[in-house]
Order: sequence, then C-alpha cells, then structure tokens
Amino acid sequence: MVDSIFQNIPGQYENIAEATKAIEFNMASDMQTGSLLKTLVASKPSGRILELGTGTGLATSWMIDGMDEGSKLITIENNELLIDIARKALQDARVEFVLADGYEWIQNYSGEKFDLVFADAMPGKYELLEEAIGFVRPGGFYIIDDMLPQSNWPEGHASKVERFIDELEKLNDIVLTKLNWSTGIIIVTKIK
Ligand SMILES: C[S@@+](CC[C@H](N)C(=O)[O-])C[C@H]1O[C@@H](n2cnc3c(N)ncnc32)[C@H](O)[C@@H]1O
Repeated sequence: MVDSIFQNIPGQYENIAEATKAIEFNMASDMQTGSLLKTLVASKPSGRILELGTGTGLATSWMIDGMDEGSKLITIENNELLIDIARKALQDARVEFVLADGYEWIQNYSGEKFDLVFADAMPGKYELLEEAIGFVRPGGFYIIDDMLPQSNWPEGHASKVERFIDELEKLNDIVLTKLNWSTGIIIVTKIK
C-alpha cells in the first residue's frame, strides 16, 4: 500500500499550496491529514465542523470536499493575511471564516455542538482542551496532528506534547487512537 498518492485532491488545493509557499508559512497541515479529515467529515452528513487554526486553508479545502450540501464549517484564525488566502480561495456558503482570537472565541462560544473538531492551534489543543472537547457531540470526532517531532517545533515543545497527551488520556467520556503516521495524529471519539 502506498499512502502518499492522493486522488481527488481539492480543486483549490494547489493554488493555496502555492500561496502558502510564497508567504513561507511553515505550519501547514499535510495531505495525509487533509485526506483523513475529508474521510471523517464525509461520515457526518449534515455535519457541523469546527477548525481551530485555519492557516491558509489547506486542511479546510479537504474538509469542504468531504462535506455534503447540508454540512457547515466554522474555521477560526487570528492572522488576517492567512485567513484571507483561505477565504478568497474557498468561497462557499457553507463555510464561515472567522478572524478572531481562538482563546476568546472558545470562551464565548455557546452555540450548537460539533460533529468534528480539528484543533490545529494552541487554543483548543494545548490550552482550553476540555472546552474544545466539550464542543463535540457524542459520536463526534476531535482530531489533532503534529504529535510527532516536527522540524518547526520550538525549543521545549516536545515536553509540552508529552504533557498534552498525558492530559488527553486522562479525560473521561472519550476513546482515542494514536496514529504514528503523517505528522502524528490522534483520533478522539466523544462517547457522552
Ligand atoms: C498549525 S497552523 C494551522 C494549519 C492549518 N490548519 C492548515 O491546514 O494548514 C496553526 C494556526 O493557528 C493560528 N493561531 C495561533 N494562535 C491562534 C489564536 N490564539 N487564535 C486563532 N488562531 C491562532 C496560527 O496563526 C496558525 O495559522
């Protein structure tokens, strides 16, 4: 099995990838993560999807590709340059691009729960973890990547990741699987 050949790459993916390279944004999600997200999103008809950390929209493009007509995606980013690249490339009535601080957004959100949360920023992952997992409906997914050492990790990040995984594993009402694949992914399913 070769897992690096992708079919049905999102239409806007290459444009966004070029823009991402041009601005030297080095925290982009990889294609394996995108493909997995698309697969999981497709399992949630009329799903409500949340992405914390839009970046330039690479993972967003995959998730949109997995969504049906009735699905909705909210994606949060605090960097205007980045979210503008995503917004321009991925115009879609089912998607709400929110330029906001993720800490504030999480603490103020009181709307409907989500079928899948892709937590790809500090808030909702290394901080406010319980709040972000609390946004997931029973049977829904909480997904994180970058759990294996990455070249862009700052000094001290490895121990932060270890502490984070310990914290995650102690939570109630979830089951999880760690995948030593892509950048290191954890799939969490909320059970209550
Ligand atoms: C790992 S990158 C996201 C990559 C993106 N999901 C992709 O598919 O390429 C993390 C993103 O979180 C954003 N971010 C960091 N702190 C944030 C905050 N407090 N609120 C909102 N976004 C934040 C960064 O600007 C960055 O774009």
